[in-house]
Order: sequence, then C-alpha cells, then structure tokens
Amino acid sequence: MAQELYQPPKELVENSNIKAFMNKHGIADLDILLDKAQDLDWYWGEVAKELDWFKPWDKVLDDSGAPFFKWFTGAKFNIVHNCLDRHMNTPVKDKIAFIYESEPGEVERWTYEQLHKEVNMFANGLKKLGVKKGDRVTLFMPMIPQNPIAMLACAKIGAVHSVVFSGFSSGSLRDRILDADSKVLITTDGAYRRGKVVELKKNADAAMAEAPCCQHCVVFKRAGNDVPMTEGRDIWWHDLVDGLSDECEPEPLDSEDMLYMLYTSGTTGKPKGIVHIHGGYAVGTYSTLKFVFDLKPDDVWWCAADIGWVTGHSYIVYAPLMNGATSILYEGAPDFPAPDRWWSIVEREKVTVLYTSPTAIRMFMRHGEELPAKHDLSSLRLLGSVGEPINPEAWRWYRDNIGGGKLQIMDTWWQTETGTFMISPLPITDLKPGSATRPLPGVKADVLTQDGNPAKPGENGLGVLLKPWPAMLRTLYKDPDRYVQTYWSRFPGKYLTGDSVAKDEDGYFWFRGRVDEVLNVAGHRLGTAEVESALVAHKDVAEAAVVGVPHEVKGDVPKAFVTLKVGVEKTDALKDELKKWVATEIGKIAQPDEIEFRDKLPKTRSGKIMRRLLKAEALGQPVGDVSTLDE
Ligand code: WT7
Repeated sequence: MAQELYQPPKELVENSNIKAFMNKHGIADLDILLDKAQDLDWYWGEVAKELDWFKPWDKVLDDSGAPFFKWFTGAKFNIVHNCLDRHMNTPVKDKIAFIYESEPGEVERWTYEQLHKEVNMFANGLKKLGVKKGDRVTLFMPMIPQNPIAMLACAKIGAVHSVVFSGFSSGSLRDRILDADSKVLITTDGAYRRGKVVELKKNADAAMAEAPCCQHCVVFKRAGNDVPMTEGRDIWWHDLVDGLSDECEPEPLDSEDMLYMLYTSGTTGKPKGIVHIHGGYAVGTYSTLKFVFDLKPDDVWWCAADIGWVTGHSYIVYAPLMNGATSILYEGAPDFPAPDRWWSIVEREKVTVLYTSPTAIRMFMRHGEELPAKHDLSSLRLLGSVGEPINPEAWRWYRDNIGGGKLQIMDTWWQTETGTFMISPLPITDLKPGSATRPLPGVKADVLTQDGNPAKPGENGLGVLLKPWPAMLRTLYKDPDRYVQTYWSRFPGKYLTGDSVAKDEDGYFWFRGRVDEVLNVAGHRLGTAEVESALVAHKDVAEAAVVGVPHEVKGDVPKAFVTLKVGVEKTDALKDELKKWVATEIGKIAQPDEIEFRDKLPKTRSGKIMRRLLKAEALGQPVGDVSTLDE
C-alpha cells in the first residue's frame, strides 16, 4: 500500500486548535497526544471542561454496567444551554448562527439571539401542547431553520426528538412514530425540491391516520400549498407560538438523559432506534468539530448533509452551535437550478470549510471541472468527506478542483451509532488519499480476523472499537437485547462496527464497505431486508432477494431478484411498477436500480436465500463455495 503522502501546510498546523490544546498540555507531537489520550478520564474530562455544566460530574466514565456505559455521571447539564443560552452573555449573541438559503433563493441570516428567542417560543408552544420531559416528538421537515429550532426546543425542555428524513414515505414515517410512541408530530405544509412542491403534510396525514399515539401535529407554513387541518389535532406553528414568551429556562437534566433517537438500517427489516443522550454526546460532538475542522470565530462552516441523518444532527445543529460557529443551511438540491449551485453559495457567502460526501463529489466530477472553475472558491481553507469510502480519484479531484490543488481533506469515518467522528485526520495529520487515517484522540480501534485475532498489516478484517467513547449510542430504543447482540456479542467487550477495513504499516485505516446485509446508497444506510420486505408486500411478488451493486456515483445501489406469484406475467411494466412501489413503501433512496425476474432463488438446504451467489453473479465474479446450496 505504498501511497502518496499529503503533508499539511505549516501554517495550518501551527494555528490549529488541536495544536493549541497540545501546547496547553505540554504535548509535543500527535503520537504523544494519541498515547496520552488513551487515559479516557483525563482526555474527555479535559475537553468537557470547555462546556457549561449546571453541576459538575462525579465520574467521567462509569463502566460498571458495560456495555451500557455511562459518562459524566452525577452532573446536571443541558446541551441546548450550551448551544444557545450561554452565548447570550458573550459577543456570540449577535453573531450569525445560520445563513439559510432556500431553494428558490431567499437568504435569511439568523443571529444566535434570534435563534435563542425562536427556540424559547417554540419550547413554550410544546409545553402548551402538554409535551413533558421524556416525551417523544417526531419531526418530518425539510431543511429550513424551523427544523433545528424544533429539535432544540424539544431538547431544551427535556423532550426526545426523533427526526425522520423528509424523503421517507408515509409508511416509514408511521412505523417510526409508532415505535417511538410519539405524542406530537412537527411538519410543514410542503417542501421545495427541484422547483416542485413536495406535499409533506399529506404524508404526515397518512401516517397519523394509522398512528393514534400522535395527538398533535404542528404545521409550519413553508410552501403555501393547500392542506387540510384536522380540528383539535392539527395546529399551525404561527398560531401555536402566537403571544408566547420568548424566554424559557433549559431543563436541568442528568448527563445520561435522552436527547434523541434516530432510526438507521440494520440487517433486519426493522430499523434500529439509535439512542443518544445529552452530556457525553455534547462533549464528543463539540470537541471533534473543534479539533478536526478547526473552527475559528471567523469561519463559515458548511456541512452539506441533511438534518434527517446523524451528520446533520451532530454537525449542522449541535456541534456548530456549541462552538458558536456560523453555518450554512441550504434547503434544496445540489444541482438546482444548475449543478454549480453549491459553488455559487461558497463564493457568495465566502464559505471557509466544506464538508460533504463522496457521492456528491462524484456527481460534481461528472459535470466537469468547468463549473467550479467559474467561481471564486478561494475562501475555502479546509475540506471534508463522510459517508462512504472515498476513492482516491475523487479525493484528488476534490482537492484539485474545489481545494485549489492545496487544501487538506478530512475523511471522517463514523456512524449513526458513534455520534461523532472516530477515525479521521486532524489538520496536523499527513494524508493518504482514500484513507480515513487514524483513530482520533480518546478512540481506540483495531482490525480483527474472523476468529478475533489482530489482522496483519494490509489484511482486510472486521473493524472494532476497543474502548467506549462519550458520544456512543447508549442502547437501541426499547430493544437493549438487540443492542448487545448487534454490537457487543461477536467479540465480547469490543464494539463491532460492521465495516470491512484494513490497517497499513503506518496504522492508517482503509475502509472497504459493510460486511453485513447493509448497503451504503449515496452515503445513506439501507438494509437489504427492508427493500425485500417492501417487495414481498406487493401482491404479485412471491419472493425477493436484494443485493448491492457498485454504482459510479452513488457507491452502492440495490438490485433486486424477484420471483412472481403463479400466473403473473414477467413484464417490463411490472418491473417499473415494483420500482415505484418500493419508492412509495420506503422512500426514493430505496428504489432498486434494476429488477430481475427469476423462476427460483438460490437457497441453502435450510431455506435461506443465498444472496452471496446473486451478488457474485450480478458482479460477474466467481460464485465460490456452493456446498450448502439446495440443488
Ligand atoms: C457507515 C455508517 C456517519 C455519517 C454518515 C453515515 C460508512 C461513513 C465513512 C468514511 C468509509 C464510511 C461506514 C459506516 N462510512 N463514513 N469516511 N469512509 N466509510 O452514517 O448511515 O450510520 O453509516 O457509513 O460503512 O459503517 P451511517
């Protein structure tokens, strides 16, 4: 694995936040820091001191109930106090928190003070609806300021938010409302996507019709489309907050009180509700953004993800606000009205740090380097990547065409479960294109063979995390057994990431993709079992097997092998119908790229579908061992 090495410019290193932290503690180089930070109590305790605690902790890490770890026990804390309230006594109060740009092109600049007031008003509105500490509230919203406002309002009063990506179908929304047993749903009349209005309230209505737990629906007027309002259940956002006070004290919570749940795909048809909490999550997200993306008071930060995914939770909402940063919030599609929309925003708003996905980079690559070249991108000083392995070609294109041939790229490896970056460069790290480099301070990771021994350098194996970390998931909502089973049972005491990875001679990690039945479509996780259960719910389908096949832009895309019920004709029209069916059952991201009809699917003698064979076939690879095949 001989690789070119990209060393950071001296100026970046010398002025970096991580270097300042090292200097403060008399630490001469990165290796010494990584070593010293293995003392978790010291490292995490030290960074936690930069946040504001109502009452200090007794213990940094309590591992007595492992793998149900607890952090900062005994402390009183509220993440929203650290995002907003504490800035009201500093110059950050008048600083811009969000530069919001709508898809049609309006720009709004929200100061910290305005955001604070709006959050307080909405928090008071939630209280008026009877929302109390611990209650669950589901959000189904586009990328508008009211989305973070609603999240922060929930967290401020100790309610738990569950954000459902606005591209999901009504059925997916219903399942998530029911699983969370949400009392309130917050949505908008509509959302803009590529110039068209997507009718979110319509999906919300369909979901609520089958989710009786949901007593209230708050609707923010965004697109102005006509929506029916159900008397006694539905209320407009502006009516709810009308006349309410813009003051609201943050609920003093325990560090381990729940902040949110976020559903992500696993290996079964049922998504997992990942649980995050206030204290440790705040410490992890605050410090990783500060150290990895090196945010300074004058930076304009743009995490170009959707708030519906963990990237948006951690790095659009919570971490930037705790850091007092200015962020871009862009409502629309990256290629609307033209594929240089992003570059015009970078140029106009003088964005300094841009964080996006390999999928987006590959899409821009396809449109050619002329588009970014038309814009002045010289305000940028650092770049980032997340969501899937970045191929070295895309890495170099990104550096050359967006980074002016000189910017360092922070390839951050992490998961919904980890809450924060885990394996990632710092601004002081030498980079190898395609590698997420090494574990961050306070993180210990390794690569194991199938039987649990350390893999040799360069050998692909299973990625594991060897020590707990403050922003780790605490459990799976209402399913602690599945939490233990999924993450902690394969190698007891070690967290199984589900990723295939190799570590080179320098200890750099090279992620390859998932090892389980989980795809990574355009940086979003999708379980093959979810797509299969949607397909078999169609009246004409008998059986279905879904595999991931590589796609030039999106990383993986689902391909489905389907057997039909007796008497059903195999037509192209039915293929199209099934594709659309999956899109309406789950959401557009799950729509198979290709469907193939089969008379039979390959099965083991015990009746399990052998996806491995179908996958090898789809990829034109040798099928390997078939001794367990039925016939
Ligand atoms: C999976 C987690 C974390 C936010 C977005 C995805 C893959 C993520 C990288 C990276 C290689 C990556 C892994 C991981 N992944 N970042 N920098 N290099 N692979 O969150 O939906 O929870 O997916 O995304 O396979 O397990 P997620």
